[in-house]
Amino acid sequence: MSNEAIGALIPQLDAVDESPGAAALRARSYELLRAARGAQVVDVGCGTGRAVAELADQDVRVMGIDVSDQMIALARERWPYGEFCVGDAYALPLEDGEAAGYRADKVIHALADPGRALAEARRVLASGGRIVLCGQDWDTFVIDSSDPELTRTIVRERARQVASPQAARQYRNLLLDAGGRDVTVEVHTGVFTDASFLPVLTRLAEACCAHGAITRAQAGAWIADQRERARTDRLFAAVPIFMAAATNP
Ligand SMILES: C[S@@+](CC[C@H](N)C(=O)[O-])C[C@H]1O[C@@H](n2cnc3c(N)ncnc32)[C@H](O)[C@@H]1O
Repeated sequence: MSNEAIGALIPQLDAVDESPGAAALRARSYELLRAARGAQVVDVGCGTGRAVAELADQDVRVMGIDVSDQMIALARERWPYGEFCVGDAYALPLEDGEAAGYRADKVIHALADPGRALAEARRVLASGGRIVLCGQDWDTFVIDSSDPELTRTIVRERARQVASPQAARQYRNLLLDAGGRDVTVEVHTGVFTDASFLPVLTRLAEACCAHGAITRAQAGAWIADQRERARTDRLFAAVPIFMAAATNP
């Protein structure tokens, strides 16, 4: 991802992190990890590092890994006591069986070959280690709008720009294919009703415009409608968040 794209992603991640229910979702992912104090956990695609800081607060030995050096620099700045390292989900900087836990939040969809990343997760996890995947399905945003057809186009076209847009609905199969045992899947719906979600909505339309899928005028009108909805307390978006977990064989 370009520096510009990472720069645009950061306010969206912050908006999601600060949205109602986000802290509870992260807490649920930590619960599913079942990490004991002192256990080694990796947060793959850690972004700006909030989960790493929160797990470290629970006395878990956690390393945040991200392919973007810009993300890792910001994570280090925000959470100076966290351990962060630039690395790739396909080739993690860990020995075989070194980790007791593997977490990837809003990451697997960004990978062209999720199965390869899951095979790498299996390699670094000890037998009995836990893996937790979270994220939304990029084909499934529910957004109220004055132009439902344009909204459909925006959601569909944005999904096309994602390497593996339907990865979240595939988590269970990916985990089973990687040999995971006791696979569980939960779906939690994020509900967004105020201006804090505008950066995400704006980015959806802007990205489609940048790819020529909609015109500048269409993007402008759609974003203006969402801004007006936020101003008048009529913004409504619902996003199913998939959370899948398994035990490494
Ligand atoms: C949408 S962000 C999510 C960040 C964080 N997990 C969160 O929940 O806020 C996806 C992150 O995955 C990282 N990423 C993308 N491809 C990666 C790869 N192959 N290996 C490691 N990280 C990757 C990106 O740089 C980005 O920081």
